Amino acid sequence: MLTMLASADDVALRGRHVLTVPDLSPLEIGTVLTLGAHLKSARNTDQLPLLRGKTLGMLFEKPSLRTRVSFEVGMTHLGGHALFASGNEFMVGSRETPEDAARVLSRYVDAILVRTHAHEPLERFSAAATVPVINGLSAAAHPCQALADLLTIRERFATLDGLRLAYVGDARNNVAASLAEAAVMMGISVNFGAPPTHRPSEAFLAHLQELGKPRGATARAFTSAIRAVRDVDIVYTDVWTSMGEEHLAERNAASLLPYRVDAALMSAAAPHAIFMHCLPAHRDDEVSADVIDGPQSAVFDQAENRLHAQKALLVALLTDLKGMPV
Ligand code: CP
Repeated sequence: MLTMLASADDVALRGRHVLTVPDLSPLEIGTVLTLGAHLKSARNTDQLPLLRGKTLGMLFEKPSLRTRVSFEVGMTHLGGHALFASGNEFMVGSRETPEDAARVLSRYVDAILVRTHAHEPLERFSAAATVPVINGLSAAAHPCQALADLLTIRERFATLDGLRLAYVGDARNNVAASLAEAAVMMGISVNFGAPPTHRPSEAFLAHLQELGKPRGATARAFTSAIRAVRDVDIVYTDVWTSMGEEHLAERNAASLLPYRVDAALMSAAAPHAIFMHCLPAHRDDEVSADVIDGPQSAVFDQAENRLHAQKALLVALLTDLKGMPV
């Protein structure tokens, strides 16, 4: 049985949408991480049916392994149910407006997870929905991945505050954006290592600086991968070409080859540094096989933590968290 530790009067996540990381405050992110760690520690004992009778609608315009399966398994663990629609069954805005689809689905299910191509239809969908909408990856953001990433980093270092992370490669993609927002909000300084073609915009760097200010975290972009990685605690990369941008694959590979994370690049990081990747990975493109399969790699803990962080997020969005250790 889960231990009942604390009241959660100061955390009001119930009923909220989570489309981007800053939809959550640092306090709320901390709540989700603490609850996620607790649910993880209880995974082999007893799981309270915290979501008994609840249904999560999962709508996917794009392929998924981790997001789809971890949300569905998470709902099952918590006594709830998940249903999945993809392809012809669901494309935001294709058969009806995003608003009509959201209004209808809100009458069937208790929360909706959406993976879309563009971010704007997701915003329209969530504005009309009357149940929580969770972004399961859009062109702009991947907040669920970022929560699992922070849970993994906190497990490895027992803290987030004051750590340093380097994101190397395509630093304009959705994973990089949400990871960097989550990191600076929780006190982790971020270095991007990317060529000019894949460097975050100055506006986004300024946004990160603002988000990081309360905890003294910074965000900087380097053209040199080695300079970005020097002495950091965490080295992170992702595929060179995101889903839906396959026509850019050749160009991206040519630009990003110097940013492959290999043993030489890892040796510039702190000796205790970990390697992270949201998966799926392409060995010997963005990361060498000896790094992703080596002792510094945290990628499978990271993938597992999708399950625990998302269970916590679902409990936070669908219950009042009373009695939960948050
Ligand atoms: N990392 C991630 O979102 O994986 P999937 O695309 O398999 O869901």
